[in-house]
Amino acid sequence: MEPYKREQWQAGSMLCRVVRFGEIESTNAAALSMAREGAPEGTVVLADMQTAGRGRRGRSWFSPPGCGIFLSILLRPPLPAERLSQLTLAAAVAVREAIIETIKRTGGSEQIEDPAQRYKIKWPNDIVAGGRKICGILTETVIEDMQVSGAVIGIGINVNTDSFPEDIRMLASSMRREEGCLFDREALARLLACKLAEKYALFLETGDLSAFTQTYDASMAGRGKEVRVSGPGWEREGTAEGISVDGSLLLRTRDGKIEHIISGEVSLRAIEDYI
Ligand code: BTN
Repeated sequence: MEPYKREQWQAGSMLCRVVRFGEIESTNAAALSMAREGAPEGTVVLADMQTAGRGRRGRSWFSPPGCGIFLSILLRPPLPAERLSQLTLAAAVAVREAIIETIKRTGGSEQIEDPAQRYKIKWPNDIVAGGRKICGILTETVIEDMQVSGAVIGIGINVNTDSFPEDIRMLASSMRREEGCLFDREALARLLACKLAEKYALFLETGDLSAFTQTYDASMAGRGKEVRVSGPGWEREGTAEGISVDGSLLLRTRDGKIEHIISGEVSLRAIEDYI
């Protein structure tokens, strides 16, 4: 599958080289192979649809034509591999801001409440609204000559999506379904690139998430509530208190201790009607 257009966007201080595809297997897979061929930081792969969109934990990502954003950006931060995953949390803050600003600018007919109150980040990096997932982020490590040389951050946003397959119908939603109007995907993609560049610069200044914890915590779905966190073969329950500067979830267990959860899936369903 060949790109139909190449262009450049000035996204704040970052020059993005944007490679546009109509149909592609996965923008993440394409960005990873471009990275291995020496593509520079700021390379953005954008597609109208994906035939094999990748989700976290080996899942697929619903990527129909003409209604979503499927965007991957290549970053090459001068950081050790173990810190790269933190970029995903900074990216979640950027995506949420881009979504909220877009809704405010567009002025959906259903806007009875500030979108900032409804669009939240479900740790580590899903954007949810009304208990359903609007956006997912998948960060994949770039390996070149057996060395980690960067990260591809892949972002999928359900923008104007009208309907979802049966298996995810109860779990997924879109900006259109939540707000009752259509959105300009091109404007959102450009704003997203600016927000990502801004948050990336802030992240590099400190090398951790200290500049983000306050905003992230204020945007966290289920913060201060009872949640269940699980991973392969384990499960914990407690109160979600926020994140630490390394991106781990701070979970207060019944005995009052704070546990740092490095990876896992948060479920709010048992306590509230959230995913
Ligand atoms: C998740 O499971 O929550 C992460 C989904 C990430 C989907 C995006 S769409 C653009 C990019 N290309 C992919 O193949 N996946 C990511």
